[in-house]
Amino acid sequence: MEYRNLTTLITGASAGIGEEFARTLAAKGTNVILVARSVDKLSALAEELRSTHGIRAEVIGSDLSVPGAAASLVADVDALGIEIDLLINNAGFGTYGDLADADPARIRDEVSLNVAALTDLTTIYVQRMTARKSGSIINVASTAAFQPVPHMAVYAATKAYVLSLSEALWWEAKRHGVRVLALCPGATDTAFFDVAGSDDAAVGTRRSTRQVVDTALSALEAGKPSVVDGLANQLSASSSRLAPRRAVLAVAERAVRPR
Ligand SMILES: NC(=O)c1ccc[n+]([C@@H]2O[C@H](COP(=O)([O-])OP(=O)(O)OC[C@H]3O[C@@H](n4cnc5c(N)ncnc54)[C@H](OP(=O)(O)O)[C@@H]3O)[C@@H](O)[C@H]2O)c1
Repeated sequence: MEYRNLTTLITGASAGIGEEFARTLAAKGTNVILVARSVDKLSALAEELRSTHGIRAEVIGSDLSVPGAAASLVADVDALGIEIDLLINNAGFGTYGDLADADPARIRDEVSLNVAALTDLTTIYVQRMTARKSGSIINVASTAAFQPVPHMAVYAATKAYVLSLSEALWWEAKRHGVRVLALCPGATDTAFFDVAGSDDAAVGTRRSTRQVVDTALSALEAGKPSVVDGLANQLSASSSRLAPRRAVLAVAERAVRPR
């Protein structure tokens, strides 16, 4: 795949996996539009990428958990006169703990960001990409997508949605020349667990953001509908699909049980 002179819209680009996507793609000559709430971090990153790689880097501050934020974001991108070749729906967070103890507003934000904003952006851009018969979308799911996860029930459900949506859309879009990929990282070395409020949510050895992004771009180039990052994560995702449901639930619960 030729990345030079493409334009990528990356949500959640101020940290972690999204920042790594921005750095990797900018180094390949891709222009980037960086989106998150932390405009200061995005501006510093944009300046660095412009001066290091000579690409165009734009910053759009947005809280994508707010209803209607995705449509406003698209309007802001259109106002810049930019066409998106690659959409990376990466912004997301997890909540840790039983739903009976959760803050309902935080749960609503989690669903709004992980599901609603991702769906809004995917719908708008897949229509445009289909019309011009080119473009790619990477939706960041998780290995949590492969089974329900007690103590992270809503997070796992949002990621199951992302995986299901993206794989179905892969099928719909491929005949129009549009690629769709669900990226399923396992535990990755980012601020994710600080935001979730517990390291107990991390299963297995954490992979680097570099490994995750390399896995994603290889899978996109290969035209896959979904990819799990890392061999251990691939084995666990496959066994979750084959084992009896109660056993899968018991294993998932034990893996993230509060220590
Ligand atoms: N790390 C892992 O172990 C892991 C595993 C599987 C899947 N994932 C998924 O990978 C994606 C990236 O997470 P990460 O690990 O890189 O976590 P991270 O380091 O916490 O980064 C999350 C990014 O999302 C942005 N974000 C959060 N809330 C937002 C909002 N309301 N509106 C706009 N942007 C928002 C954050 O920026 P601001 O705070 O500046 O808004 C940040 O740029 C998520 O979808 C996550 O579910 C992570």
